[in-house]
Amino acid sequence: MSEKLWIFDTTLRDGEQVPGCQLNSQEKIVVAKALEELGVDIIEAGFPISSPGDFNSVVEISKAVSNPIICALSRAVEKDIEVAADALKYAKKGRIHTGIGVSPYHIQFKLRSTPENIIERGIRAVKYAKSFVEDVEFYAEDAGRAELPFLAKIIEAVIKAGATVVNIPDTTGYCLPEQYGAIIRYLKENVSNIDKAIIATHCHNDLGMATANTIAGVQNGARQAELTINGIGERAGNTSLEEVVMAIKCHHAIPVHTNIKTELIYGTSRLISKLMNMPVQPNKAIVGRNAFAHSSGIHQDGVLKHRENYEIIDPKEVGVHESTIVLTARSGRAALKYHLDALGVELEGEPLREVYEEFLILADSKRDIGTKDLLSLVGKFMDGS
Ligand code: KIV
Ligand code: ZN
Repeated sequence: MSEKLWIFDTTLRDGEQVPGCQLNSQEKIVVAKALEELGVDIIEAGFPISSPGDFNSVVEISKAVSNPIICALSRAVEKDIEVAADALKYAKKGRIHTGIGVSPYHIQFKLRSTPENIIERGIRAVKYAKSFVEDVEFYAEDAGRAELPFLAKIIEAVIKAGATVVNIPDTTGYCLPEQYGAIIRYLKENVSNIDKAIIATHCHNDLGMATANTIAGVQNGARQAELTINGIGERAGNTSLEEVVMAIKCHHAIPVHTNIKTELIYGTSRLISKLMNMPVQPNKAIVGRNAFAHSSGIHQDGVLKHRENYEIIDPKEVGVHESTIVLTARSGRAALKYHLDALGVELEGEPLREVYEEFLILADSKRDIGTKDLLSLVGKFMDGS
């Protein structure tokens, strides 16, 4: 049996930071329940110090959800940690996620501090969080651009202070997969107590690498992945939950499994898109409208002969009823026949060829060919007109 990859969903925290995506507490509860149903292990429910609304949402989600760990974000600041702990008071399993910037940019220009002071603040934050909850995750913000010996030093120190999970964010989405994987490997090889904590990936998508980086992290030893539904999040977004989960399911060489009920993926994606008023791009992997739509004649013929000729995932596995064979001017006869058969009109040979020719003329002038168009084409043919 492969090792478990803990799925940490941050749709309600990092995802919800997107302008225009804000949810009220009731909507957040609906999302949290859907995430619980989907099988995520940890729900990052919010950043309680940031607003009374966020505080209240963490409280209400803690009451409404029982299986996943409920996580609350805080900076490495005492007041943040106290408020996070307070918001988690009803959680059956609560986790405080605290941390600080670790790259030269963050240390010098954001925190105006020194590496030594950053380590001290990290240790203090973890110890303080530990006085409220057993489960404390430390994030090393901007780890993707950190100096590796320093990163290893602070990670070793916070694990010693009691961190149960160490999160290695590529906050700016800067890394290439090989680089991100090498950071995780470096920590595995250079942090003496690394086996006492779970390493988490947390990747952003500024270069479109978030999923690839997350997978590289997992292949190099990370055992928690921080993800959002539909990949929503700051700027170009976070790693998509659906992409990571299905990549793992498709590739047995990745030595982990998840508890996600994949057949609930599509419904969850649509729920988030609707509530957050955030459309899913049509060509989005796994959940986009075109993810299982075939439009060129060669592909349509191939997929109708054998689904796996052009599909690596059975759409049912992610909750999509069936693949679609889209009728366009690039469609072949096999696609037309498929649609006519579905309408109960069985044509073969010369009659099919004639209808197909008329269909091509129509498809060149019209973007969407629907049932009405098909019936009219066949009707004309049947009438001999
Ligand atoms: O991207 C990031 O670094 C974060 C941390 C706060 C975990 O979201
Ligand atoms: Zn983030």
